Amino acid sequence: MTRILHRTIAHTYPMAARGEGIYLWDATGKQYIDASGGAAVSCLGHGHPDVLAAMHAQLDKLAYAHTSFFTTEAAEDLASDLVAHAPSGISHVYFVSGGSEAIEAALKLARQYFVEIGEPERRNFIARKQSYHGNTLGALAVGGNAWRRKQFAPLLIDTHHVSPCSEYRGKRADETPRQYAERLAQELEAKIAQLGAKTVIAFIAETVGGATGGCVPPVEGYFKRVREICDRHGILLILDEVMCGMGRTGTLHACEQEGIAPDLMAIAKGLGGGFAPIGAVLVRNTVIDAFAHGSGLFQHGHTYLGHPLACAGALAVQKVIRRDNLLANVRRQSEHLTRRLSERFGNHHHVGDVRGRGLFQAIELVLDRTSKTTFDPKHKLHARIKSQGMARGLMVYPMGGTVDGVHGDHVLLAPPFIVTEGNIDSIVERLGDAVDAAIASLPGAAKTRG
Ligand SMILES: Cc1ncc(COP(=O)(O)O)c(C=O)c1O
Repeated sequence: MTRILHRTIAHTYPMAARGEGIYLWDATGKQYIDASGGAAVSCLGHGHPDVLAAMHAQLDKLAYAHTSFFTTEAAEDLASDLVAHAPSGISHVYFVSGGSEAIEAALKLARQYFVEIGEPERRNFIARKQSYHGNTLGALAVGGNAWRRKQFAPLLIDTHHVSPCSEYRGKRADETPRQYAERLAQELEAKIAQLGAKTVIAFIAETVGGATGGCVPPVEGYFKRVREICDRHGILLILDEVMCGMGRTGTLHACEQEGIAPDLMAIAKGLGGGFAPIGAVLVRNTVIDAFAHGSGLFQHGHTYLGHPLACAGALAVQKVIRRDNLLANVRRQSEHLTRRLSERFGNHHHVGDVRGRGLFQAIELVLDRTSKTTFDPKHKLHARIKSQGMARGLMVYPMGGTVDGVHGDHVLLAPPFIVTEGNIDSIVERLGDAVDAAIASLPGAAKTRG
């Protein structure tokens, strides 16, 4: 009997025993294609020899030194590497152990920045509905997923949410993408005006919406307008690239494709590729200057900040991506993935949208393509697809609540950057079978409702 409080208590999880390349094996010897990198984590696949060698070498030298006593070569080298390839203006890195911690640190950095520059009246964060920023209380508070927030609502700091940028669900038929972006910009302006611009600390958004919306790219021009509005009001822009960043969309940072740079940016997942828990906040020089000329310290900290083993692993991951020119492979395979998904699902009765960017793509399931109605959430279509996928040796990352936290289902794909065309063909074939089997397993009425 397990003594672990697993994610779902009644579920029996297979025992993961071994990983190599894009494959995982369970303890019975069954092989799975890891087509989602877990949750968009394993960007190099599993067991990469160069990363393992770097981590072994670090372990032989030094496993841990507390950051209130020492800095380490591993952390310094990784920080220098990240700044050298960061969006313009980023000058420093704050290391943590994962995505939620990165968001917590970004929120506190943003608040303290305004205390440092003599604007302590700024207290509001504006975020987007349907976003996911993590499960710690601050991250959950800015997150916009209704289901995740609901039972913890009394514990959450006050935050304010505007509409996400979702062409499939949000753009009206009579609007161009540009007009849609403008409407969203006006909504943000109105929210700022309602709160009082001088009370707003930051606007926070996932550059490409991830787990809860299903790989939702922004429409062209949206983030340029957001950046311009934030600048005009002296509001910080925090980008959450925990899932969509570090190469996943074909450029190191997703915001490069939007032509903007953030004031603070959270990264994690692909930073360490799953070899060790690590996250970071990339910090703009103006924010650092305010701290340096003010109190001189960021009032925060955790025991495992800048863990040398995690930093050595993350640096090795980033070096392999550059050495092997893997972002070019992300872009190349992304086209193949889009093509194969469109062929398999483009005319599928119950797939309303195939979308995404780079090796970060999703299908959205609908009961009816014209009206975009969703399957009854009580049938948990997303969970059925996940188990049908696992039965076929395929790991994908399906989720429910795609539309509003309750309704809608999508399946997210985030294969490793080393994926080949042949791998993608197998992934799409198995996914197609899993989706059809999951829909066939629904009670009769569920397939015709709507
Ligand atoms: C966009 C985004 N932000 C933050 C997080 C939280 O990261 P973690 O689970 O490492 O705490 C996630 C995790 O899925 C995420 O996708």
